[in-house]
Amino acid sequence: MAYADRFSKILQATRLDPSSGEVSALLRGLQANILEGHGRSHALHIFLRFAAKRELAARVFLQSLAARVVTTAEQQRLEAQLWRQSGGKLSGGTVGSVLLSFGGYRKLGLPDALAPDDPCFRAGMAERGGILNDPAREGWEPPYRNVPDAMVLLADDDADRLARLGTEALRGLEQCGELVHVEAGTMLIDASGRKVEHFGYKDGLSQPLFFKEELLGDGARLYDATAPLGIACIVDPLGDSPLSLGSYVVYRKLAQDVRRFRRDVAAFANALGLAGTREGLARAGALFLGRFTDGTPIALHEAALGDRGATNDFDASSDPPGDRCPKAAHTRRMNPREAKAQSTQSGRPAERPARIVRRGIPYGPVLPLHDLTAQLESSRAARETGRSADEVAGESERGLLFLGYQADISAQFETLQRRANGADGSPFDPVAGQVAAGKEPIAQDWPKRWGESGGAKASFAAGGWVSLRGGGYFFAPSIAFLRSIGNLVVPGAYGA
Ligand code: HEM
Repeated sequence: MAYADRFSKILQATRLDPSSGEVSALLRGLQANILEGHGRSHALHIFLRFAAKRELAARVFLQSLAARVVTTAEQQRLEAQLWRQSGGKLSGGTVGSVLLSFGGYRKLGLPDALAPDDPCFRAGMAERGGILNDPAREGWEPPYRNVPDAMVLLADDDADRLARLGTEALRGLEQCGELVHVEAGTMLIDASGRKVEHFGYKDGLSQPLFFKEELLGDGARLYDATAPLGIACIVDPLGDSPLSLGSYVVYRKLAQDVRRFRRDVAAFANALGLAGTREGLARAGALFLGRFTDGTPIALHEAALGDRGATNDFDASSDPPGDRCPKAAHTRRMNPREAKAQSTQSGRPAERPARIVRRGIPYGPVLPLHDLTAQLESSRAARETGRSADEVAGESERGLLFLGYQADISAQFETLQRRANGADGSPFDPVAGQVAAGKEPIAQDWPKRWGESGGAKASFAAGGWVSLRGGGYFFAPSIAFLRSIGNLVVPGAYGA
């Protein structure tokens, strides 16, 4: 079979079988954390900048860094297997990955024509801010205003080992660059043992699924989460074969104002006529998120059902107007589930629905629920002074270190973020949507009674709880590229 045919077939492949020779070769050539999440409880995001005119030193450093820390997708799978077989007793160890921005490719002295060619990747997230309707770069945290050249992602269940490896990763950096910034993420587990984000909602439920064994659980009668490899990967132009795959990565540091969220949930419960009840708070939050805190989709149920309700097998076919799950709800904005057979698409960009692989992790301290009155007070004070509630309470910030992997930034992440921000004229997503500094979210109509066709609406201005602190577009290069970059004088790119 001709090479080109082979690789287009691979990118269309779904339900991958890791026992097949071709799939295992592919997993050996791909970095970890793309097709499956690392699942570790701690993660470091280490941002680096390479010095100008130090191309060769930077290449040598990158190759040696990759040899020390990078995990292949195949290793990640094997370690996960061992961990499962040992009933969680054997540690899965560290998962490491190295990502480059377009500026990073340039600092390595590689000709532009050879670097990954997605125009959004090349322009950078800050430059795309106008198209996205994102807050301007001037308001971002300083380390992100000039996008760093590289990001090293390290994850481990053992925080001490992770810190040691973080230091080890920087060995030799002084020859070619400097450390810009580090962000530490920690998985949040609630009292019921669920992995949640800071607003308290179970996260990581709906993901594109690539492996055949992942598909046994849900039954998938209404929604098929199967995805072709081509939604997450492209052939790395600097790899050594059509099996050398890489992935575009969107990183966003998203601060979550939990006090403000809780205040708005309480006010919205009031607007729904359900003030002061546990049921009212649960429903109000679920209308914003699209799921209850335990993961039960509000598209299926009026109230939370516990873990047995946290299915991903639902769609919007019986609720086009959004009487159960509002069209502005975060999960519905991000995945309308209105088109059938989403995963049987060819995988070509024009036909690819905007799906994205999410691998984010929370950062910052948990805000306990018990001092709710004090929280609502500082949230009110914050509103009056224009500061964040965390600042008013004299606390460090919390949020999500969002990471999204895909094959086409414009067709995937940017389509979702533009939608969330209301930039395409559609409803504003109160969770992922960004409100410009000094502005308030707009009022939207929400169904007052669950599932009532054409029923009364409650108008409520939801949002402004999540603020972009900075971010960037990166590429996760193939293992072949990372293994050879130190020896490349004139890059021998595949297909160049
Ligand atoms: C701090 C910000 C955010 C929070 C707190 C948040 C929270 C959540 C939660 C609780 C879910 C439901 C659980 C699940 O299906 O996994 C979810 C789903 C999702 N989120 Fe977010 N999210 C945030 C930002 C974003 C951003 C920036 C994007 C992309 C631009 C995004 C895309 C998605 C997608 C695609 C889904 C799955 C929808 C589905 O298939 O049903 N989220 N998010």
